[in-house]
Amino acid sequence: MNAERTFDADKIDFRKKFELDGKVIIITGGSGLIGRAFAEAVAQYGAHAVIADISAARPMELAGMLETKHGRRMIGCELDVARREDVERLKNETLSEFGRIDGLINSHQNKTARFFAKFEDYTDEDWDKVIETNLKGTFLTCQIIGGWMAENGGGSVINIPSTYSVVAPNQNLYEGTNLGCPAAYSASKGGVMALSQYLSTYWAEKNVRVNQITPHGVWNNHQGRFEQNFAKLSPLGRMSYNHEVAGAAVFLLSDASSYITGHNLMVDGGWTAW
Ligand SMILES: NC(=O)c1ccc[n+]([C@@H]2O[C@H](COP(=O)([O-])OP(=O)(O)OC[C@H]3O[C@@H](n4cnc5c(N)ncnc54)[C@H](O)[C@@H]3O)[C@@H](O)[C@H]2O)c1
Repeated sequence: MNAERTFDADKIDFRKKFELDGKVIIITGGSGLIGRAFAEAVAQYGAHAVIADISAARPMELAGMLETKHGRRMIGCELDVARREDVERLKNETLSEFGRIDGLINSHQNKTARFFAKFEDYTDEDWDKVIETNLKGTFLTCQIIGGWMAENGGGSVINIPSTYSVVAPNQNLYEGTNLGCPAAYSASKGGVMALSQYLSTYWAEKNVRVNQITPHGVWNNHQGRFEQNFAKLSPLGRMSYNHEVAGAAVFLLSDASSYITGHNLMVDGGWTAW
């Protein structure tokens, strides 16, 4: 986007900068805990949301509900982000419906059956599956959908790494619970971070901004003990909610962030600040 060349800020309509009117935003993992908050938020700001998720997550159903609520066309797409042909189909279905793509949020993640297994016991199969969905899936959507935006005037990509690709997990968090953070997850998200940084300069001249949002401890009916442990370690003293992550996406998708690329916006309650 070419920003207005002026230092008279009073000539700028700042509210308008945050609007997403008519923009087409693809959200992978769009039926998930945070994905559905992204979808609702971009819909409230005037966008057409494309909900892309595995069939079991029923992305069409969510798209239909958003369409009815907001009175604007929304579509769903069942896919596996790690399959090239599926991501090509996502791009083609979006373009045949709307003729444009303005934004991509990669909010998918894979939790295998033995996701929380001890590092020493982690199987090749589980390791590969986590890397395949989280990292390869992000590579494919960036290449195919980000690549389309790069050839068609630009857009905004938001990838989602993790607190545990930024810092190591504090193992005290899991005391008395059966939760944890597998190394495969951290490693996959470290790859997402590096890929995002790379693309932010690679596509800068094509007007594709590539940023990241790092959520942290998004509440999803966690065990009470986990929530207590979390509160003690968090500067803001609590877990977060999916809607607290979504505002960051509206900002990064909109013209309000026109000079921001290569950034990782930490929505972590200060977790990494101390
Ligand atoms: N929840 C948190 O506290 C937290 C913290 C940091 C980062 N994150 C990251 O934020 C993103 C969203 O997290 P969430 O809590 O909403 O997760 P979630 O598990 O609720 O949602 C993930 C979605 O991805 C979908 N998915 C799984 N495999 C897929 C595939 N192969 N193809 C397409 N879709 C697939 C799932 O069906 C699900 O709807 C993830 O990338 C996650 O790693 C979450």
